[in-house]
Amino acid sequence: MYCIKKVTDDLVWVGANDRRLALFEGVYSVPAGVSYNSYLLTDEKTVLFDTVDKAVRQRFLENVEVALKGRKLDYLVVQHVEPDHSAVIPELIRQHPEIKIVCSARVLEFIKQFYDFDIDSRVHMVEENDTLKTGKHTLHFVMAPMVHWPEVMMTYDSTAKILFSADAFGCFGALNGALFADEVDFAKDYMDETRRYYSNIVGKYGTQVESVLDKASALNIEMICPLHGFVWRSNLNEIVSKYMLWSKYEPEERGVMIAYASVYGNTENAAEILACRLRDKGIKTVIFDVSVTPSSEIVSAAFKWSHLVFASTTYNAGIFVTMEALIHDLAAHNIQNRRVAIIENGSWAATSGGLIREILGKCERIDILEKNVSILSGLKKAQLSDIESMVEAIGADFPAPAGAAAQNNQSVPNTVDPNTMFKLSYGLYVLTARDDNKDNGCIINTVMQITVTPVKITIAVNKANYTHDMILKTKKFNISVLSEGVPFRIFQQFGFKSGKDTDKFAGSKEALRTENGVRYLSEWTNGVISGEVKETVDCGTHMLFVAEVNQAFSLSSEPSVTYQYYFDNIKPKPQPPKGNKKGFVCKICGYVHEGDTLPDDFICPLCKHGAGDFERLA
Ligand code: FEO
Repeated sequence: MYCIKKVTDDLVWVGANDRRLALFEGVYSVPAGVSYNSYLLTDEKTVLFDTVDKAVRQRFLENVEVALKGRKLDYLVVQHVEPDHSAVIPELIRQHPEIKIVCSARVLEFIKQFYDFDIDSRVHMVEENDTLKTGKHTLHFVMAPMVHWPEVMMTYDSTAKILFSADAFGCFGALNGALFADEVDFAKDYMDETRRYYSNIVGKYGTQVESVLDKASALNIEMICPLHGFVWRSNLNEIVSKYMLWSKYEPEERGVMIAYASVYGNTENAAEILACRLRDKGIKTVIFDVSVTPSSEIVSAAFKWSHLVFASTTYNAGIFVTMEALIHDLAAHNIQNRRVAIIENGSWAATSGGLIREILGKCERIDILEKNVSILSGLKKAQLSDIESMVEAIGADFPAPAGAAAQNNQSVPNTVDPNTMFKLSYGLYVLTARDDNKDNGCIINTVMQITVTPVKITIAVNKANYTHDMILKTKKFNISVLSEGVPFRIFQQFGFKSGKDTDKFAGSKEALRTENGVRYLSEWTNGVISGEVKETVDCGTHMLFVAEVNQAFSLSSEPSVTYQYYFDNIKPKPQPPKGNKKGFVCKICGYVHEGDTLPDDFICPLCKHGAGDFERLA
């Protein structure tokens, strides 16, 4: 029986899941299975994006037939020839001999290497920036070599603003009924598997991933459809920002990953003591026994953490086997930009440390502590000072927080540090009002309940906002409480423009209003509160409105977005300039305007902030 999922009105997921696969690519354990995604676009022409692994061919072929609804299949876009996405092409062609295969020269070459069917008579060759009009939709082809094979190509549908991203942005794990990343708790349940997928599958090719991210940044992308894992239709920055870090080999977390190989527990003992001492200093630690934890998980952790410690016994005058495999694996995956420390053990000749140093020393931007901790069979009390020295050396990279300084009676500055204000927890809200049939709204971050009977809240609104003027006049407003899935464009729509000269609701499909006649947001909002102003307090730049709540209802259980979450996951990160570019970078969103001068009236095309928010590239 078929099993398909709607992606958009004319795009259908026709892929399938495999939960019986023991090892993906024969190497990587996939305890939660894996999905093979394929998508069918039904425009004036029908277009299939890739096929699936042979393990799920039957379900896939049935899915395609059902989604086609009796139409012929006009095009198959082949973006990646690795057999987990191409294995069913020969059979698909037997069923649809009319098909045209859309591919690059490199894809064609690889198809011929893997398969024997007649492709030359049905090939539609494309190159970088070529387009294919399928009716309403226009497809643009973007070459993405080494992400993760040399022939890989991505496709951008400029009509639907969808990027078909091949392996990029994929993850391990079957889709358990959900198709979209925002249907699951992605950060909690899938980010680790996304990192493991990235680091092991494309981790070696950071430069090439950066190049694809550069190309993608020029496109207006509202949805990402990868070949494995979930479709991204909201909060794309959650995954894109991770790729930006991983591709540059920047750690995600400051802390120490300790991996040990121990035969009789003595090397493990040294690793445990080190971890305890680091924790005493407030430094985060994770520990892996490399004989127990699969290498792919430790490679993934090495991409996550800033500091790496390898503790290994010596075996046959070399590195212990499982540790040796791990070290080679890390080097093969191009691990870079980490601080490393080594503990070695040996009963008659401790050589493992020097050998680990030799392999990792060849990796780029790996800074290895000069002195290994060297153990003869088991750590002795007299050697605890060696562990302490290692803790001190690592700890020097982790300055004590201000609180710790205060506890240690160190002096703290008697000033007002504006950054401390960011420690306060805020939400983010769309504040809406209506005056003389004009609807308007802005973003605010201060809403607080102050009494229960009656329910009263306060909101603080910048007096420069048009919404402020409307509320001052009408006394009525709505708060739409934004939830974590909210895309950046909502902040652009309500936060980066003035309602005096813009209709902030232009293009919105439905005009939903509460009883007070004021509009509210139904999407990316988990609750709505209507307020009637009872008092005002003039606070200089801002007006504090004290209001009674006369309507309030919930719309979803998705967590509210916090100010911190917005900065970490939604707001685009400033892009560091490449090479010796001359120009100006927007301090708000990171957009780079190239050139020697920046006009005074320049407006950032991304976040709409003015020239005053730009600074010259260093
Ligand atoms: Fe999912 Fe590179 O194949």
